Amino acid sequence: MVARWILFSLLVALCAYHFYREKPFTEDMVRGKRILVTGSSMGIGEQIAYELARMGAHVMLTARREKQLQEVVQKCLDLGASSAQFVVADMSNMTEAQKVIKETKDAMGGLDHLILNHVGKTFPFGPFQWDLEQVIETMRVNFFSYVQLTLSALDMLQESRGSVIVVSSMAGRLPSPFSVPYAASKFALEGFYSSLRTELRLLKAELPITVAVLGYIDTDTAVNVLKGKTSLSPSPKMECARAIVKGGMLREREVFYPYWSTKPIIFLRDWMPELVEYLTGRAFQVENIAQKRDP
Ligand SMILES: NC(=O)c1ccc[n+]([C@@H]2O[C@H](COP(=O)([O-])OP(=O)(O)OC[C@H]3O[C@@H](n4cnc5c(N)ncnc54)[C@H](OP(=O)(O)O)[C@@H]3O)[C@@H](O)[C@H]2O)c1
Repeated sequence: MVARWILFSLLVALCAYHFYREKPFTEDMVRGKRILVTGSSMGIGEQIAYELARMGAHVMLTARREKQLQEVVQKCLDLGASSAQFVVADMSNMTEAQKVIKETKDAMGGLDHLILNHVGKTFPFGPFQWDLEQVIETMRVNFFSYVQLTLSALDMLQESRGSVIVVSSMAGRLPSPFSVPYAASKFALEGFYSSLRTELRLLKAELPITVAVLGYIDTDTAVNVLKGKTSLSPSPKMECARAIVKGGMLREREVFYPYWSTKPIIFLRDWMPELVEYLTGRAFQVENIAQKRDP
């Protein structure tokens, strides 16, 4: 009973703190800014590009598929982007990641915000296959390329007093069954960027880093992967993109979207790990997830 009251009071306090911290966001924070969005040929990255375009940013987009990028660029221009361009690149190759930053510099003369959002192929959603190559491939695209892009863009970001926005996931905060390599890559991102943020602050070096912690979002990829395998309902990708852009431009340390299905459970993680594990398990229709494990 006492524990329940403590929990309730903490949730009320958390709620009050959340609303107290709401800061004003204006479109001027985006207009004319030079922003690179990775993984912007579809999904959340595409929506982020449209959100920035509506507010008049200069957007640079990147992903592997040229035709899709051309279409997103055209739509950005229609929506009011100050400029919109793209560079085709595969983030499993670090030389290509460096090329993206070089082409961004050549095209825009600098960079105000780096939005790291791309995510590599999700291997079949299901039990871990005990395949090291899957883990290495996932880490290369979802983690090492983020680090490479940040290193290569550092000078430009420091010159413009810009910021880095990293799109992460609940899978980077909580144990996530059936997507073990993906979860490992998101935990790596969280560890790297939160440590870097603290280190830079101690060294009095200015580079704000926002980490966006997302729940289940209704992108085609996520909905197809989880069809029939989860009882959760996805949240809209447009609203998600808006939350990321707002939090990033306000230089928040973290963005939680959707707030009420991410933050409270993370809050409970270290206190009640069994409860969190139980709730995580309840989100999956385990009987529909292949039990097969290749030897
Ligand atoms: N959707 C969700 O439920 C959810 C939940 C939590 C977190 N997130 C995070 O949100 C971000 C976006 O997810 P999403 O659902 O929008 O993904 P998505 O729709 O599958 O889009 C992924 C993007 O990454 C690009 N990409 C994939 N492999 C690439 C590679 N090797 N090199 C360069 N680009 C590559 C894809 O374009 P090309 O195929 O053209 O290369 C695409 O533009 C990810 O970081 C993801 O972890 C999503």
